[in-house]
Amino acid sequence: MKKEKLEKAEEILKKYNQTEVIELLDKLDDEKKEKLTDSVLNVDFENLTKVFNRSQEKKEVNTTGISPMNAIVKEDVSEEERKKYFELGKAVIQNNHYAVVTVAGGQGTRLGHDGPKGTYKIKTIKGEKYIFEILCEIMKKANQTYGVEIPWYIMTSEENNSETVSFFEEHNYFGCNPQKIKFFTQSKMPVMSKDGKILVDKDYKVKEASDGHGGIFNSMKRAGIIEELSDKNIEWIFTCGVDNILVNMVDPYLVGLAIDKKCKVATRSLIKNSPSEKIGVLCKQNNRVKVIEYTELPEDMAKEVDSKGNLKFGESHVMFNLFSLEAIKKIANESLPYHIAFKKNEYINSNGELVKPESPNSYKFESFIFDSFEMFDDMAILRAKREDEFAPIKNATGVDSPETAVNLYNNFWSKRNT
Ligand code: UTP
Repeated sequence: MKKEKLEKAEEILKKYNQTEVIELLDKLDDEKKEKLTDSVLNVDFENLTKVFNRSQEKKEVNTTGISPMNAIVKEDVSEEERKKYFELGKAVIQNNHYAVVTVAGGQGTRLGHDGPKGTYKIKTIKGEKYIFEILCEIMKKANQTYGVEIPWYIMTSEENNSETVSFFEEHNYFGCNPQKIKFFTQSKMPVMSKDGKILVDKDYKVKEASDGHGGIFNSMKRAGIIEELSDKNIEWIFTCGVDNILVNMVDPYLVGLAIDKKCKVATRSLIKNSPSEKIGVLCKQNNRVKVIEYTELPEDMAKEVDSKGNLKFGESHVMFNLFSLEAIKKIANESLPYHIAFKKNEYINSNGELVKPESPNSYKFESFIFDSFEMFDDMAILRAKREDEFAPIKNATGVDSPETAVNLYNNFWSKRNT
């Protein structure tokens, strides 16, 4: 390794007060030293320092200027209106201007499955199925209904990408056309200790982790997906998580509503079960769309009801989002704020020893898809029926677990022909 390269890395490490890494570099053999040096030179320390400093600022919850947002309820609008939305949306889908992006780069720590979450298998009344298999069935059905082959992009993480791709290959894409499915990996951020130190991983690189589902925009840009969508004349992109086995990924009404309301972003909301349900709600603050987290919504506002007795702040956000390509381009050119998650992360200390912490020791920086809504002054919201569209698998047991999701899935399908 060139001496200058090491000196450059050390200079940067000194500048950003990362002297523990310099101490470690001193103790490493040439191969490991070069690996770590290259990795250090790839870190944008200026940005990382900004993100870390911002994460340390005390955040005041600001609820001034917050007003509720209303959703359109399909059953409450006239037949004529419904038809208008449907026809507008159907034309977009049938004219090949529609694509889907599934974000599957999460770690799925709560479920605790050994492998990407989509490879988790459940027992349903339609037989044993993998989550990805169910998503493939949803896409195949939509393609059949509209006589098209909708491009489907799946965002993975660097950790789970090869396992995800091999899984699809081994299962012949569950009958989907492989030409229409494309995987791309999401971006990462270095993790940091509580006092702002980067950590060194077992492979002698700077330890990094996926940067949250909000990384979708940036990662689509980096992977050339935005350009590709533009070349294909795609106008609307639906984005959703990997873990809802009743997700409706192709909904003409939502597209039609967004077009009719001249909105660049749209979402399917769920009405909150109760004022205390742990779910973020859609609202406006200073004429910008916002998702206010349940932790930030004051109790009195959470309980407020309108003249009909419905919760004023009741439309919750559950990752069923629709963006125009224009909106995605705009978001990808700006940066989303990072939130911190305090996690357990192993690392190599300055003596070259592997440290396995027993409790959380470091910050993971994550951006969220819904923070992008704040770049827009309006959003079309179409309320979804919980029992028809929402069966999430988050936890190993209890609420939102495979057991509850399978019950919902079975209830849904027992009332319909497959
Ligand atoms: P969750 O917030 O439920 O996280 O992600 P998770 O990683 O699946 O599960 P836990 O919190 O570790 O238990 C919602 C959706 O966003 C994706 C997930 O794959 C899921 O589809 N996601 C999350 C990403 O694509 N990237 C991320 O960095 C985080």
